[in-house]
Amino acid sequence: MINEHENLQTDLTEMSEIAEDIVLDSLRPKKLTDYIGQVPIKDNVGIFIGAAKKRGEPIEHILLYGPPGLGKTTLAHILANEMEVSIKITSGPAIQRSGDLVALLTNLAEGDVLFIDEVHRLNRTVEEVLYSAMEDFAIDLILGKGPSAKSMRMSLPKFTLVGATTKFGSLSSPLRDRFGAVHRLDFYSEDELSEIIRRSAKILNLKIDTEAITEIAKRSRKTPRIANRILKRVRDWAQVKHNGEINAKIAKEAISKLDIDKLGLDKNDRDYLSTIIEKFSGGPVGLETISAALSEDRDTIEDVIEPYLLQLGFINRTNRGRIATPAAYDHLKIVRPSETNTLF
Ligand SMILES: Nc1ncnc2c1ncn2[C@@H]1O[C@H](COP(=O)(O)OP(=O)(O)OP(=O)(O)O)[C@@H](O)[C@H]1O
Ligand SMILES: [Mg+2]
Repeated sequence: MINEHENLQTDLTEMSEIAEDIVLDSLRPKKLTDYIGQVPIKDNVGIFIGAAKKRGEPIEHILLYGPPGLGKTTLAHILANEMEVSIKITSGPAIQRSGDLVALLTNLAEGDVLFIDEVHRLNRTVEEVLYSAMEDFAIDLILGKGPSAKSMRMSLPKFTLVGATTKFGSLSSPLRDRFGAVHRLDFYSEDELSEIIRRSAKILNLKIDTEAITEIAKRSRKTPRIANRILKRVRDWAQVKHNGEINAKIAKEAISKLDIDKLGLDKNDRDYLSTIIEKFSGGPVGLETISAALSEDRDTIEDVIEPYLLQLGFINRTNRGRIATPAAYDHLKIVRPSETNTLF
């Protein structure tokens, strides 16, 4: 009986996670004009699309990089949508063998978009197949074994590869060089986030005032995915505890339950900073050491936690390790060492 109950509980949790994904998906802009911010990329991609359409050719391969949740996947979908082609989605670690990639490539139609997320995690052999596919729209197959083996070149439909990565530095240079355009997605300004939140609120049919929108925008780590997530939590709070309408007071209440501070830092961010400051006297301290002290995966620290803290100027990356800046001490309300020194 207890087991059944627990199973039901996990089923419900899973269902609500799936429901959350569906809602977040519905918030994804479908057209380039609805994609807010990232103006230089949007301009560039717009020209790419216009020119390709005029020539009746697929667009060049595009590499998108930047921290999670800034809109890489969304942009790939928009590209396919604007070009009126299909998009196939996969990720670096999902393509285990070169055969998997060949199957994907041969199933594409002319002009289709192949989106490879975490493209830096492709293994060597798969990557090598991708080189000729990207460059010549062909792959070399080896048929048979031993002395009678023959190599055969097979041509592929002209496709567009959109690669996404949070780790530009981990990409091999031959792969990097085969992209016609490389774009770095930036964090969003408060105004841009407000626009995204306003748009999402409209889609979700919510009554929300400007002050509440600004409040959410400020706490979203300059990241659209987080903005949408907080908006949904605030909506739940407003519906359960109030009459559903959202003002700044209700937004603040709901956000305080999420343990997100004024600058949008959550517990993980604060733990990271206080570890550097308190355990390692502000640094410099190596990533490995921080990772061990926090029992947190180093990729998560590098890709998810650090980019925003760097943006805020709370940490510096030096070749001897990470250093917490005075701004980080001030934010956590910890007295800086130089200040204590002057006391004595
Ligand atoms: N420019 C934008 N305008 C409006 N909404 C956006 C924009 N960029 C992202 N979003 C919203 O943020 C959510 C997250 O974006 P997306 O999934 O594209 O991020 P991502 O960069 O692919 O992240 P990850 O690296 O984690 O895969 C989307 O569901 C979308 O609703
Ligand atoms: Mg993505």
